[in-house]
Amino acid sequence: MGRHVSVARMNDTPINLYDHEKLAHAALDEAAWAYFSGGAADEITLQNNTRAWQDMGLAPRVLQDLQGGHTHIQLLGRSWPTPMLVAPMAHQRWAHADGEAGMALAAAAQGCGMVLSHQTSTPLQTVADLVQGEAERGPLWFQLYWQADHGALRALMAQIEDAGYEALVLTVDAPVQGVRDRERRLGPGLPLPEHARPVHWQAQPPTESAGLCAGHGNAAPTWDDVARLQSWTRLPVLLKGITHPLDAAQAVRMNLSGLIVSNHGGRTLDTQPASARLLLPVVDAVQGDAAVLVDGGIRRGTDVFKALALGADAVLVGRPCLYGLAHSGARGAAQVLRLLRDELEMAMTLCGCRTPQDITPAHLQWPGRS
Ligand code: GLV
Repeated sequence: MGRHVSVARMNDTPINLYDHEKLAHAALDEAAWAYFSGGAADEITLQNNTRAWQDMGLAPRVLQDLQGGHTHIQLLGRSWPTPMLVAPMAHQRWAHADGEAGMALAAAAQGCGMVLSHQTSTPLQTVADLVQGEAERGPLWFQLYWQADHGALRALMAQIEDAGYEALVLTVDAPVQGVRDRERRLGPGLPLPEHARPVHWQAQPPTESAGLCAGHGNAAPTWDDVARLQSWTRLPVLLKGITHPLDAAQAVRMNLSGLIVSNHGGRTLDTQPASARLLLPVVDAVQGDAAVLVDGGIRRGTDVFKALALGADAVLVGRPCLYGLAHSGARGAAQVLRLLRDELEMAMTLCGCRTPQDITPAHLQWPGRS
């Protein structure tokens, strides 16, 4: 359970997402910090995710008419207040007692969406009940891992639909967890406190030591399983962890509603390129036939702006929200999202964009662009 630090003194008030990260580091114990902040292996992808957004330059237009500006977007046929969602993250009650309930409230209060993790430590109905009445909230989606027990998976999907979740996000990039050196140094098994255990999870989470040889490859989902999942639900299905344009094209052929370009926050396959670099080829392959979202390394409003300029419909923000939650519960997570939202509005204004629809590739100066 995280220790809580006071941010009451004026000069302790976090003014950017890096301040929130520092406060989270001070609030979490060693194991929780290793789990939440760590990446796979040498953490090359983890580091590159942030750097790649920083390396892209902006190309502002001046003297544009900015009257009536807003951040509203269209996603899966609905209008939402911002292009930002909280990424699915496991075990949030390990970060803070407010857990997923606090995170969802923070997101709803800031007009952002929430993707609840399959490994949530708070019941999905509790989260749905808390946010559904918020008029100005963002989308409410549920993230799933494929499960060998199809009966249990379908029963969970029925609960998700009944509770009012608006889309399913199938994570496809982690049939095994990846080599997590920081977690391995803590010893075998994640020292997850009882209150942070997943409440809807039947299968044993795949571990880094399992690998194909231990039979975990047998439970790894295939395109046939994606089709099966689609046939089992009336909800739109998105795939999370699509990075290859050929996979993106296949997803479009199968009428997936959306793709999330993601390297799992640098937590699974190290040395994969930064998600900022993976986005454009996927956008090009999709050609507007499915929603495209991206996550990984977003720390500034300008990063959100750049993702939209490259063609993303929206972004998911993970660790920074978790860090806000870790040190100050729902209030901290809300502060993080508020900062990002304010910074995005400032970036839009300074680049001469009245709405997200006005943000185009012409607002980027990026030598790495092919
Ligand atoms: C779970 O998805 C994790 O990355 O720990």
